[in-house]
Amino acid sequence: MKVPPLVAGGLPYLGNAFAFNRNPIAFLQAAHARHGDVFRFRLLGNTVYALLSQAGNEAFFRASDDVLDPREAYRFTIPIFGPGVAYDVAPEIMQQQLSLLHPALRDEAMQRYASIMAEEVELFVRGLGEIGDIDLPGALNELTIFIAGRCLLGDNFRDRLSKEFASLYEDLEGGINLIAFIAPRAPTLKNLRRDRARARVAEMVSWLIAERRDGACDRNDFLSVLMSARYDDGSYLSDEVITGLLLTLLFAGQHTSAVMATWLGVLLIKNPRHAAAIRDEALLALKDGITVAGLKRMRLMERCLKEAERLYPPLIMLMRRTRAAFAVGDIIVPSGQLVMVSPGVSHRDSRIFHNPDTFNPDRFAPPREEDRKSQYSLIGFGGGRHRCIGMAFAHQQIKVIWSILLQRYEFELGDHPVEPDYATFVVGPKQPCRVRYRRHREAR
Ligand code: HEM
Repeated sequence: MKVPPLVAGGLPYLGNAFAFNRNPIAFLQAAHARHGDVFRFRLLGNTVYALLSQAGNEAFFRASDDVLDPREAYRFTIPIFGPGVAYDVAPEIMQQQLSLLHPALRDEAMQRYASIMAEEVELFVRGLGEIGDIDLPGALNELTIFIAGRCLLGDNFRDRLSKEFASLYEDLEGGINLIAFIAPRAPTLKNLRRDRARARVAEMVSWLIAERRDGACDRNDFLSVLMSARYDDGSYLSDEVITGLLLTLLFAGQHTSAVMATWLGVLLIKNPRHAAAIRDEALLALKDGITVAGLKRMRLMERCLKEAERLYPPLIMLMRRTRAAFAVGDIIVPSGQLVMVSPGVSHRDSRIFHNPDTFNPDRFAPPREEDRKSQYSLIGFGGGRHRCIGMAFAHQQIKVIWSILLQRYEFELGDHPVEPDYATFVVGPKQPCRVRYRRHREAR
């Protein structure tokens, strides 16, 4: 059994933190070129084992939670999501809690979300007018907060609570920072704001729950599904757990979707031929309105979406802590170490993807289907037991956004280069990322 090479350089305790933080993808790619598919580096008192091959991805995603535990990597979420849910409970309880959400992701519910998504995009379009320019990441972030809020919490949320919620949400997001990653309970200003916002959100969700119990109902949203869900022993979920699960979904799904929608937009604006073809596809597939079936027929849109996921995965790294010795080929990672795979690096692997730095959605069309060469090559939504449960929701939302926007507007990027912003946990383009728009003549 071998010990993988250790990346040189770095400082006591901090290790390679500076180079890694500046540009994690460049850091990992350089170390990959030098040391091969598996290597170690030092980060803030930890040794991280990087696995950058298909075999590494496969071993990572197939491992059980007893061997690779995700909780350590997501500890910073516990004060945000609250006690008794997600990474605060044993992995099997988390899986049971997530499985209670399945009815909220079935086709009937997805059709209702499709209508909400379309209504929200129409409201957004109304605000755009004929011509103008916007910061695309900021604008799509706001739009997806409204969509997520209504799909999770119902129309009452939109009517009465969304303004206050937007500022609380900002404070909760402030809880995702480097200090919270290491010491989630450290009494920093950001963490204190996070805790105050969490308490207020719990109060707001409790009102919504009480209102529904009194008969004022929104149906077909995640909140109503959770209110009628029961554990295996027949008991209902407490208000605290319902609030925690709603926050889990919001944090897992909102900003990630906004970022993927932004990257897709940027790629389509840079590739107008594909944008025009998607516009034609949308005209045909959605001629009877925005339906789940129509959205599923949009094959070119789907391939462009996969290409956005491949080139710019919002989560560029996934981490676990070993709870037992973990084998990858002829390497054994001892218990207690951090292990990572990287969608951001794997997706640019020329052994899997031909000309990996080029935008080419056709790579996913038959007969090429480059992502099917191995099961864990396209991993922007993870893989194995922790694979994203919201992928269909995210795809649907992004398809609705760009089907409508491309039918109404022509877009043009500002003169600035569009680069990933590695300072944030979910990696979108650096802001501002300004985009000019003008209504299509035939859409006036
Ligand atoms: C483009 C948008 C999205 C991206 C890129 C994304 C990405 C991911 C990834 C990479 C994972 C695996 C994390 C890991 O293995 O450590 C994951 C898990 C998860 N996602 Fe998503 N996600 C998105 C949207 C959503 C949405 C809309 C929801 C909810 C409606 C959601 C809910 C979840 C949950 C609950 C998990 C944890 C699953 C588990 O651990 O069993 N995600 N997501």
